[in-house]
Amino acid sequence: MTRPLTKLKPSLPSAWYYDPAHYQRELEAIWYRDWVCVGRIDSIKNTGDFFTATIGNQNIIVTRGSGGEIHAWHNTCRHRGSILCTKASGHFRNGRIICPYHTWTYSLDGNLVATPGRLETDDFHPTEFSLFGIHTDTWQGFIFVNLGDEPATELDEFLGDEKQYLANWPLADMRSVHQETLPVSCNWKIFWENYSECYHCPRVHPELGRIMPVYRKAVFDDADLPGWEPKFEGDRGHGRVGPGIRTWTLDGKSSLPLLEGPTDDELDAGVSFTSITGSMYVSGHPDYARSVRIVPRGPEQIELVVDWLLPNSFGDVNADIIEHITGLARLVIMQDGEACELNQQGLHSGRFEQGVLVPQEYALWDFHQWLRARLGEPAEI
Ligand code: FES
Ligand SMILES: [Fe+2]
Repeated sequence: MTRPLTKLKPSLPSAWYYDPAHYQRELEAIWYRDWVCVGRIDSIKNTGDFFTATIGNQNIIVTRGSGGEIHAWHNTCRHRGSILCTKASGHFRNGRIICPYHTWTYSLDGNLVATPGRLETDDFHPTEFSLFGIHTDTWQGFIFVNLGDEPATELDEFLGDEKQYLANWPLADMRSVHQETLPVSCNWKIFWENYSECYHCPRVHPELGRIMPVYRKAVFDDADLPGWEPKFEGDRGHGRVGPGIRTWTLDGKSSLPLLEGPTDDELDAGVSFTSITGSMYVSGHPDYARSVRIVPRGPEQIELVVDWLLPNSFGDVNADIIEHITGLARLVIMQDGEACELNQQGLHSGRFEQGVLVPQEYALWDFHQWLRARLGEPAEI
């Protein structure tokens, strides 16, 4: 990563942000091959609990089997292809997944166990009609699926160095205490690009700028500013909360116990991020954590699914606590969503073919190079 860029760089061709054929190409090259987070383990605590998830136009059932293991299945019946499950979440009674069309019935392990009313033939073998399975794995309480026949890498390798930034947060022992879903009319890359720069922060996020003073300078980190020197061994100039600010809330105060795990320096910094290119980021704060998943819903539509996490050991969570920990991020995400929708609309100009990246947009440049490689396109020099 070159940070900041020393020359202007071109952005991606504008049609890549709205052309349906290009969107399909990205689904197949990236979203249907990578590990993608679909939810939390704590949302399916018991055998038979399930939720459904969407990646592109693929619908998935995630459930917990009789031995406590996590399964993911294509949400498609092996008879004539009906969707099996229409609810966002729930519990499969008696451990049975029953097709709403002709009632073919599957176990939680995906085996076809009953076909009520079917006239018999001697060539029917239930084992040939198990549900289509999907690879699953978990990281720190987050459930990931991989739609590929064989994942190119294990999840751990896929997450790579990014894991280290939240390694000290007790994410596996936390639960989602609040979830919000926000539809945003933009291409998934537009939101990821917005997440990847703070050039927009002074104009778009005045409230966040009071918590994170460095953001008022249109960069994430002091290290991006001209003349910056490390103050100690290993100093990355990492963005930190301002004096007197404890955490990411609207008033900068915390009403919760500090989390156990992060170092004093991590607690004092107020924020640390793990980023999974294109699909998710997780922010760790001194007293809570938050995940944001980006769900592509079409060439020009996404859904953002935001979860706020508190330790399992934390007792009842009342409305005041929820309001306090959600207020700032909800505001910031809505501000980002509005900016992204404006960005998306402007791309349709017949005169606009390609944008330009300025120095502090170096992470967009890396993202674009990553994307080009994944699509088999030549790198931009
Ligand atoms: S399509 Fe599912 S039972 Fe017929
Ligand atoms: Fe933003």
